[in-house]
Amino acid sequence: MAVRRPKVARELIQKWQNEQTEVSMPLNIEVMELDLISLDSVARFADTWNARMAPLHVLINNAGIFTIGEPQRFTKDGYEEHMQVNHLAPALLAMLLLPSLIRGSPSRIINVNSVMHTIGFVDAEDMNLTSGKHKYRSWLGYSNSKLAQVKFSSIFHKRIPAEAGVHTVCASPGIVHTNVKVKPRSSRSTLFAASDPQVPEYCETLKSEDWPVCACINYDCNPMNASEEAHNLETSQLVWEKTLEMIGLPSDALEKLIEGEPVQCRYGQQKAE
Ligand SMILES: NC(=O)c1ccc[n+]([C@@H]2O[C@H](COP(=O)([O-])OP(=O)(O)OC[C@H]3O[C@@H](n4cnc5c(N)ncnc54)[C@H](OP(=O)(O)O)[C@@H]3O)[C@@H](O)[C@H]2O)c1
Repeated sequence: MAVRRPKVARELIQKWQNEQTEVSMPLNIEVMELDLISLDSVARFADTWNARMAPLHVLINNAGIFTIGEPQRFTKDGYEEHMQVNHLAPALLAMLLLPSLIRGSPSRIINVNSVMHTIGFVDAEDMNLTSGKHKYRSWLGYSNSKLAQVKFSSIFHKRIPAEAGVHTVCASPGIVHTNVKVKPRSSRSTLFAASDPQVPEYCETLKSEDWPVCACINYDCNPMNASEEAHNLETSQLVWEKTLEMIGLPSDALEKLIEGEPVQCRYGQQKAE
C-alpha cells in the first residue's frame, strides 16, 4: 500500500486486524510512502520498489483529488494540482515501474478514472489551464486530468508490444460516498479490472483491432465507451508527448524500458532499470 501518510495507514491496518473476529492470519500489507503531489516522491518510490527486483502483477492507481469549488493551485513541480495528482504522477509511476511490471507479466495497470472525463478537454499546450483560453474551474481541472489519463493510457496501450504482457485499464467506480463525491456504490469495477481473467483478453482484442482507446471498464464491470475526444488519436499522441516531457522522461522512454535499457528521469535523481 503506497500512501502519503504511512503512520495513518499503519494505524488503519492495525484497526482492521483488531476488528477481525475469527482467529486468522495477520494481514499481509506493507506500507510505503508515496506522495503524488511530489514527482520526486514518485520517482524515489519507484526506485525503492524496482531495487527489490521483484515481479509486480498489478498496479492500482487509485488516489485522486477533486478540490470542489476551491481556487486553482499548483504543486511545487509547477503543475495544476488535479493534473499532477490524478494524471502526471500516476503516469510517472506506471512508466518507472515498468521493469517490475514486465517482470510480473502478465500484469496490469489499473487507473481509477471517472465518467467525468467525458466533460473534459485537454489542450497539450495548456495542461495547467493558465493560458487564459479557458477559465479555471475545479470540475474542469478534475475532468481534464481524467481525460488526460485516458488519452495517455490509450497511447501506452497502443505502443506497448503485446509480448510485454502489460495491460492498462481505466476503471470508473461510478459514484461513491467519499471526499471526492457523494452517493453510495463501490470499488468493485477496480477489483474486477485488477483480477478478472477476461480483462487481459479484452485488452488484447482491442489491441489486435487497433482500437484507439485503452480498455475502459464501467462501474458495473462492463466495457465502457470512452468519450468521443478520447478516441482522437492525434490529440492523444500530443498528450502522450507532453506528459512525458512534464514528468521528465525522454520521448522514447517506453521503448527503452521495454528493452531493459536505463532511462534518465528528471525527478528523484534516479535511473529506472
Ligand atoms: N467517489 C466518487 O464518486 C468517484 C467517482 C469517480 C471516480 N472516482 C475516483 O476514485 C478514486 C478514489 O477516490 P475516492 O472517491 O475514494 O476519494 P477519497 O476518499 O478522497 O480518497 C482519495 C485517496 O487519495 C489519496 N490521496 C490524495 N492525494 C494524495 C497524494 N498527494 N498522494 C498520495 N495519495 C493521495 C488520499 O489519501 P489520504 O488518505 O492520505 O487522504 C485518499 O486515500 C479517485 O481517483 C477518484 O477520482 C471517485
